[in-house]
Amino acid sequence: MPVKNIKLEVTFIEYDSSDDLSVNDRELLKHANNAINSAYAPYSGYRVGAAVELENGEIVIGSNQENVAFPSGLCAERVAIFAAASQYPDITLKTVAITSKARDFHVDTPVTPCGACRQVIAEYERNQGKKIRLILAGEIGKVYLIEGMENLLPLMFKADQLKQ
Ligand code: THU
Repeated sequence: MPVKNIKLEVTFIEYDSSDDLSVNDRELLKHANNAINSAYAPYSGYRVGAAVELENGEIVIGSNQENVAFPSGLCAERVAIFAAASQYPDITLKTVAITSKARDFHVDTPVTPCGACRQVIAEYERNQGKKIRLILAGEIGKVYLIEGMENLLPLMFKADQLKQ
């Protein structure tokens, strides 16, 4: 057959609420929630907090930082991950928790990273050779646990595709 239909599968865990997370994951999500306080999001009114847990036990937070020149801003998870990678360049990233609050409504679904953030997280994951866990939450409601970026960015662009 000259044409193949290929189906890829992603898996993740859905919790009814953050109460169902492990103590450790719930604690990390609290750090992400606190990080919302430092968000600078006057243009979207959508404030995001992220917390990265490293293998050495350190937790590095970040929040979205917008700018009047819109593309100059950066998402919370990239702020947190770049901060973690620059402060602890050789330490494995274990888990990233992300949550958000909106000015005009209650966020009742988990915040899911944009494509650019997925690409960034996926590259750190490949480099460290160990899966990164993601905990995604809204203000209320369900929480997703995603174990490994293959579940968020199948067919990612990889560094080895730059050469042959
Ligand atoms: N944002 C994040 O910080 N993380 C996400 O996962 C989704 C989007 C930010 C970017 C922008 O400042 C605002 O949310 C609205 O898109």
